[in-house]
Formats: sequence, C-alpha cells, structure tokens
Amino acid sequence: MRALIIALASALLAPLALARAIPDPNQKHAPGNEAPQTPIAQAGYSTPVNYQLQCAGCHLGDGTGSKVNDTPKMKDFVGNFLKVEGGREFLVRVPGMSQSALNDAQLADLLNWLLREDGMAGKSMPAHYQPYSADEVARLRKVSMLNLPDTRAHLIEQMRALGIAIEDGMNGTP
Ligand code: HEC
Repeated sequence: MRALIIALASALLAPLALARAIPDPNQKHAPGNEAPQTPIAQAGYSTPVNYQLQCAGCHLGDGTGSKVNDTPKMKDFVGNFLKVEGGREFLVRVPGMSQSALNDAQLADLLNWLLREDGMAGKSMPAHYQPYSADEVARLRKVSMLNLPDTRAHLIEQMRALGIAIEDGMNGTP
C-alpha cells in the first residue's frame, strides 16, 4: 500500500518537476542577435512596408480582405467612407488603425496612401480629398469607438441612401 502511494505521488509530481517557464527567463540572445528590436514607430520604414507589417496579415497585400475572417474589403471600397458623415473619423478609429503600433504621422501617411485613386481605394475615392494630418489622427485615435458594428451599419446605410454599391466583401453586413 505504501509503495503504491509513493508511486502515485511521484507520478503526479513528475510533470511539475519537469515543467519550466516558457519562454525561459534565463534564455540568452542568439549570438549576433543581441541588439534590442527597434519599435516600428521609430524604425523609419516606408508606408507600404508599414502596411505589410501592420495590416496585410488580415487585410491581405492588396486590401481584398477575407469574409471568413470578418475582414472587410478595402480595395475599391474604402474611399466611400469619406462620402458619408462620420466616415472620416471611423477610418481612424477602427481598432486595426487606432491601436496599431504606428505613430500619428505614420498613420496619417498610411491613410493618405490607402486613400488614393491610384491606390487601394481606387474608384471609390470622392472627387475632393482632404489629406489627413498627424494632428487630426492624434485627436481622432484617442477617442475609442464604443459600438463598431452599429457605427459601421449606420455608415453603410448612408452609402446605400446615396446609391453607392456596397462592395465591401461582407454583403453589407457589419
Ligand atoms: C488582426 C487583424 C487586423 C489587422 C492587423 C488590421 N485590421 Fe483592419 N480590420 C480588421 C477587421 C476584422 C475589421 C472589421 C471591423 C473590426 O472588427 O474591427 C477591420 C476594419 C478595418 C477598416 C474599416 C473597413 C470597413 O469596411 O469597415 C479599415 C479602414 C481598416 N481595418 C484598416 C486597417 C489598417 C490600415 C490596418 C493596419 C494599420 C489594419 N486595418 C489592421 C482586421 C484587422
């Protein structure tokens, strides 16, 4: 009986003895890789590179998005948000934008890069475009959007009222 108890106790304790913290706090950098990483906000990459690093994982390289992942299509559609009231603010406040690791100036550059007739927004761009400034982005991104689906649904409704085709890859659902 005693042997059985000892055997059982050892079997139960063995995984604890083998367990270790992952990542190992005592782990050393790989040789040649000791320098700390530069945060993207200070790295000075070009805007297309920032898009690849911060957005393309979900939105894909050309902005097609993915319905199965609830990621709307930006290509040839995202410019429509500028045609409806509240859309300009919405574009900065979506979490992928406002909570990205990019600084305000980089985010303004990224928006101005996406929102071009020869860029991702393509044919969806309004006739007159007022570029975003770093100050505007700084002001807007501080205010969080409390109800994204309702806010978006309201914007899409306004687009419909203007006769805009809802080619957002989501069948117009939020
Ligand atoms: C982790 C995945 C992910 C990342 C990374 C991401 N997004 Fe998004 N994005 C989404 C999803 C999902 C939505 C739909 C709304 C929501 O749930 O946030 C969205 C919505 C948007 C919208 C609103 C489009 C619409 O039709 O409603 C814009 C604009 C946008 N993202 C731009 C960006 C940009 C620019 C970046 C990079 C700085 C980025 N996103 C990073 C997943 C992501």
